[in-house]
Amino acid sequence: MNQRSYTSLGGIRQVTDFQAHLESLRLMIPCDSKLEVGEQSVFRQPMTLNDREIGNRFCIHPMEGWDGSADGQPTEHTRRRWRRFGLSGAKLIWGGEAVAVRHDGRANPNQLMINDQTRAGLANLRETLLEAHEQVCGTTSDLLLGLQLTHSGRYSCPNQKLRPEPRILYHHPFLDRRVNVDDSYPLLTDGEIRRIIEEFHRAARSAWELGFDFVDVKHCHGYLGHEFLSAHTRAGNYGGSFENRTRFLREVVEGIRSLAPQLQVGVRVSAFDTVPFHPDPAWSAPGKTGIGIPEQHHDLLPYRWGFAVNTENPEEHDLTETLQFLCLLRKLNISLVNISGGSPYYNPHVQRPALYPPSDGYQAPEDPLMGVARQMEVTRELKQSFPDLVFIGSGYTYLQEFLPFVAQAALREGWVDFIGLGRMALTYPELPLDVINGRPLRHKHICRTFSDCTTAPRNGLQSGCYPLDEYYKQSQFGKQLKEIKAADRRSKKLTKVS
Ligand SMILES: Cc1cc2nc3c(=O)[nH]c(=O)nc-3n(C[C@H](O)[C@H](O)[C@H](O)COP(=O)(O)O)c2cc1C
Ligand code: SF4
Repeated sequence: MNQRSYTSLGGIRQVTDFQAHLESLRLMIPCDSKLEVGEQSVFRQPMTLNDREIGNRFCIHPMEGWDGSADGQPTEHTRRRWRRFGLSGAKLIWGGEAVAVRHDGRANPNQLMINDQTRAGLANLRETLLEAHEQVCGTTSDLLLGLQLTHSGRYSCPNQKLRPEPRILYHHPFLDRRVNVDDSYPLLTDGEIRRIIEEFHRAARSAWELGFDFVDVKHCHGYLGHEFLSAHTRAGNYGGSFENRTRFLREVVEGIRSLAPQLQVGVRVSAFDTVPFHPDPAWSAPGKTGIGIPEQHHDLLPYRWGFAVNTENPEEHDLTETLQFLCLLRKLNISLVNISGGSPYYNPHVQRPALYPPSDGYQAPEDPLMGVARQMEVTRELKQSFPDLVFIGSGYTYLQEFLPFVAQAALREGWVDFIGLGRMALTYPELPLDVINGRPLRHKHICRTFSDCTTAPRNGLQSGCYPLDEYYKQSQFGKQLKEIKAADRRSKKLTKVS
């Protein structure tokens, strides 16, 4: 056997059948049988946060497009994406996409940057989103719009596509070799870290001057902020104890409060994790990558290279420090928390559950619904412990036609405060308004988790929904991606290892 098959949700017609399917998998995913319409709808309930009303319970997650100019300006492709985010009608826009605070921290040579040269471009991007939103909703007064600030750390790739230039905080037993780093590779010094922190301050002040309502100090997906949280083995002021591993966050926030006191701050965090995965060659087939298996970690216990993982069994998560982290956020007066998990680089099945893997991934080691359930369950647990914080949930796209039914139940039962949409917003940005207005879903637009939006950038192309969005399908990149995927299938001539 060289593959596992999971029931494709596209083949399930009725919500009752989906509920039965969840039961057969023994998954604790709440799912309503009927959607409420009109004033009764939980999606329509506004929320007030620091005197600002947020008009409904949909949030658009940040999603990069790898389509900025070489100097970090938005292009027409970027504006199109932000326009579509505005047209979604979602009243919380979490950052649009990751924007680098400086060049060496760009995840790709086309990532947006925030600096003096890009101010006008970012202002225009914000306006584009607001105009589109006003067009469909009539007002932007109840829209909260943030900007996600990032330094890509270990995943920096600022100058040439596919040539990583990692900035790392500590040596990692598995991740170093994935970014071509050996034991002699230099770590970021405490002095360099302090300069990066100052760039976050400057960037946040610019975001405020440009009119953004909040900034996200990104702490997820293996990028720099997240790597601090797992820097157990790092010496000095920014590693070791929990206090030291969160110093970056505290110092960033302290500077923002003094330079832009009215700017709200949010944090997107990978709240749980597991060890890195890789494709198992023993489970590979010609043209098909192997099933994901965890890296061998048994001689590395207690495991000291992850955040929110069980140190004795790092395949499992442990939320002890996540709860401590949320306590810290509360102390720092940060109430907006966007929950994600893992990383698209080393355990994509955790971070964005999908039926089809990206080219650098592996076949799903579990039914992707388990990945959805895990993200929802962790968020529920955290919300229960911190009812005063505002939680945005992730990983809903895999639910496809049943997303609204699950989302409604999760909101109604208080598992989460906002339903975050990632990939679904690329294929079907109008979904929030269709649901809120009681209109039937447009099946042809529903994301089927083909992962091309991840495969494309992994191969140096801009990201977008190539299978379903004509804009990308018809583009020169659409043709290139087809060729890349065909070559990739040919190169995977792996045979089963006995
Ligand atoms: C193409 C693409 C780009 C992404 N870029 C970002 C990003 O810039 N910042 C971020 O925090 N998450 C990013 N993500 C992760 C999504 O925000 C989201 O967490 C993930 O897709 C899971 O949610 P979903 O199931 O609704 O897609 C990206 C995801 C995709 C598919
Ligand atoms: S390429 Fe399109 S269908 Fe595939 S996962 Fe991305 S958004 Fe969904």
